[in-house]
Amino acid sequence: MTDPRGEHDADPPGPTEWGAGRVGVGPWPEEHPGEPTPDDPRFDQELLAEGDRRNVVDAYRYLTRDAIVADIDTRRHPLHVAIENFENDANIGTVVRTANAFAVDTVHIVGRRRWNRRGAMVTDRYQHLLHHPDVDTLLKWAAERDITVVAVDNTPGSVPLETARLPERCLLLFGQEGPGVTEAARRGAVMTCSIAQFGSTRSINAGVAAGIAMHRWVTQHADLRRAW
Ligand SMILES: C[S@@+](CC[C@H](N)C(=O)[O-])C[C@H]1O[C@@H](n2cnc3c(N)ncnc32)[C@H](O)[C@@H]1O
Repeated sequence: MTDPRGEHDADPPGPTEWGAGRVGVGPWPEEHPGEPTPDDPRFDQELLAEGDRRNVVDAYRYLTRDAIVADIDTRRHPLHVAIENFENDANIGTVVRTANAFAVDTVHIVGRRRWNRRGAMVTDRYQHLLHHPDVDTLLKWAAERDITVVAVDNTPGSVPLETARLPERCLLLFGQEGPGVTEAARRGAVMTCSIAQFGSTRSINAGVAAGIAMHRWVTQHADLRRAW
């Protein structure tokens, strides 16, 4: 039988070995022998001298954080993501990291200002974040900008995300472990979309749900020719 992975090592490295000593690039002179070191202010002189080991795509190697954010700003989608943060912030880092990967415009944190940044794996440095004290403030912010709010939860009466047509100027709103999306959020949304499940668990992790929903938007509205 043909191996579905194609050609591969007999004993491939495990997750902790992936990228060991390989992530990023070394100093510019080593990587580009004979080429002059760029003096463009978008380049970070320290990274040019010492190498760039950050978890960024190759197109952003050696660039300053401001230059990277400025470039993503030219590529951002009219997609916003909000997560309610009244009790448990464990999933927000995951949401921010995925939002960064999909060039989401802004991640909105609703409720408590503080959240655990660990899961974001420093992607929050490149992602616009906005705090709102409550759902009403978020809904008003979206309405003023003609952005349509879609709640995401598996509550009765919800529309299957698998068949829903998401608005292009869209704000996807997620709830928390336990309570799920608040009543105020559901009432303020144009619809609530659910992700089809087939097993025993009541729900999936909010960070995973956010990734699935963002990707659903990507499949409907993003220009895939612009993906890395
Ligand atoms: C762990 S769920 C809890 C709420 C859930 N309504 C319940 O009955 O237990 C937390 C959040 O993850 C998202 N989520 C989890 N599973 C989902 C699903 N199957 N469909 C849509 N959203 C889901 C929603 O945003 C939800 O508010």
